[in-house]
Amino acid sequence: MQPEAHQPIGLFDSGVGGLTVAHSIQSLLPQEKIIYFGDTFHLPYGDKSSESVRYYARRISDFLLEKNCKTVLIACNTASSSAYDEVVEHVAGRAIVLNVVDPVVSMVSKKHADGKVGVIGTKGTINSQTYQQKIHQLNASLEVISMATPLFVPMIEEGFIYDDISNAIIRAYLTDKRFTGIHTLILGCTHYPIIKRQIEKFFNFGVDVIDAANIVAHELKTTLEEMELMHTGKPDRHEFYISDYTPYFEKIAKMFFESAVQLEQLNFWK
Ligand code: DGL
Repeated sequence: MQPEAHQPIGLFDSGVGGLTVAHSIQSLLPQEKIIYFGDTFHLPYGDKSSESVRYYARRISDFLLEKNCKTVLIACNTASSSAYDEVVEHVAGRAIVLNVVDPVVSMVSKKHADGKVGVIGTKGTINSQTYQQKIHQLNASLEVISMATPLFVPMIEEGFIYDDISNAIIRAYLTDKRFTGIHTLILGCTHYPIIKRQIEKFFNFGVDVIDAANIVAHELKTTLEEMELMHTGKPDRHEFYISDYTPYFEKIAKMFFESAVQLEQLNFWK
C-alpha cells in the first residue's frame, strides 16, 4: 500500500536521543502526528555489531508499519549508518524511509568545494565509515577526518554539559591534531546537539558545527511536499514508546524534546 497524507510520521532511535529530531519535526511540521520508538532495551547501539543493529531496525520498522506510519525515519546515526539499505529493502515502498546521514552529507558536500571536514559519532557510526564514503561519492575533494567520541553519550545523559567536566572531555577528544584546520564538524550522533554551542565555543566559533536535527526535518518536509503527503489540520496526540522503561528515561527525554514527554513502555523483544 502507498503511504497517505493522513498517516503519522514514524521515527526511531536506540533511545531517547532521537527526540532531538522529533522536536525539530514538531517545530517545522506542527500539523503532523509523530510516533516515536526508542529501543532502550538494546541501548546503546553504538557498541553493538552492525548485524544486531540491522536486526533491531527491521523489527522496529515493522512496528512503525503496524502503527500505520507514512515514514520510517531512522533517527539514529548508528542505525542510519549500518541499516538504511536493509530497511529500504524491508519496507519495500510501504512507507518513505529516511535517515539522518544523507541529508547532512548532501548539504556539506555542496556547501564546501574542498578542505577538511570532521565527523564525530559512536564507535558503530565511525567504524562503518559511512559518512566518509558518502561524502566522497558526492565530493571527492573534501578530506574527511572521523573520530569516535563514545564518552559524549553517557556524559550528556548524566547531565555533564556546559561545565568543567564536559569541557575537559571535549578538549581531550577535539584537540587531536588530525582536526587542526577543519572548516566543518558534523555531529554524527543524535545526542550531540545538546552540546553544540559548547563545541562551537571550543573552536572559538570558527568551525561550522552541523547538527542533523533541523536539516533532517527540512528534508522530511521537502519529501512530503514533493510526494503530496503533507497532513493538513490538527494532529492527534503524539505517541512515544520505549522498549525498557525507567523514570530516568522520562527525565532525560525532557532534555532532548525540550518539553515533557509521556513515555509508554512497549517491549516486543521479550
Ligand atoms: N542514538 C545513537 C546515535 O545517534 C547514540 C546512542 C547509542 O549508541 O545508541 O548514534
